[in-house]
Amino acid sequence: MSPARILSGKSLSNSIYVSLESRIHTLRQKGVEPGLAVVMVGDDPASQVYVRSKTRKFKELQLFSETFNFSADTPENDILDLIARLNSKDNYHGILIQLPLPDHINSLRILESVDPKKDVDGFHPANLGRLAMGIPRFIPCTPKGIMRIFEHYQITLAEKHIVVIGRSNIVGRPLSILTSLKNKNGNATTTLCHSQTPDIPKFSLEADIVIAAIGVPNFIDESFIKPGAILIDVGINRVKDRSEKGYKIVGDIHKKRVELIASHITPVPGGVGPMTIAMLVENTVEAAEKSVKRSEQ
Ligand code: GUN
Repeated sequence: MSPARILSGKSLSNSIYVSLESRIHTLRQKGVEPGLAVVMVGDDPASQVYVRSKTRKFKELQLFSETFNFSADTPENDILDLIARLNSKDNYHGILIQLPLPDHINSLRILESVDPKKDVDGFHPANLGRLAMGIPRFIPCTPKGIMRIFEHYQITLAEKHIVVIGRSNIVGRPLSILTSLKNKNGNATTTLCHSQTPDIPKFSLEADIVIAAIGVPNFIDESFIKPGAILIDVGINRVKDRSEKGYKIVGDIHKKRVELIASHITPVPGGVGPMTIAMLVENTVEAAEKSVKRSEQ
């Protein structure tokens, strides 16, 4: 078989930025600069990388973003106080709480304290509930980016069997909902596998589309997939190597072992990662547009 076709999130994300330009321009003409507040607690290196790449993109697009850094031992109430202030300020249209939060902090309490209208990550229980009912307000960025990849590359989900591996509230769970919704982009038959699934290949070998969101480097190999499967790799894992940096980034899918079996694959880097950031920008622009609409009413 010929090598799998590459589904480039990098080039798709660039076209999304171009398409957002006129929306940003319209907002600026009304005196509104789309703005994002990022709340980061502790010094988890992976989170620092994510936050840096998100805020770098905002800077590049000359959009407003501000990061609020807290040390890992900050009391929960200090973070709740900041979020209350961010909720009440008009210049922050979006508020992003970088996850995971340290163990002593009740993540649910923090996520629930964000104004759902500013919840550009779509992690507030009210927003996840709306998503489950098929009436989303904000769709979480990584799942939304993956759905956009399907649309762009004209991969229809109806009649397909999708196996999502990983059940996090950030990626796997919302994806299992989105792909199976009764609408034109959904209608897949979706199976959600996770760490307690005894025999993942039993399901994934049947799948037309496999979405790997487990956070284990190179976990998915040829023993998991059927010929012609479409593979979406959500993993961003650091593994040590002999390069100058001392590490490289690899996905959850062992690309070399599957590229002659799969029909399509998202690369790492350059696949899902850039789409997550593009969707964060899009959701922030959308939040700003909605706030303008509310103020005009
Ligand atoms: N931690 C890992 N991925 C994400 C993400 O997409 N958003 C937030 N807020 N935290 C994360």
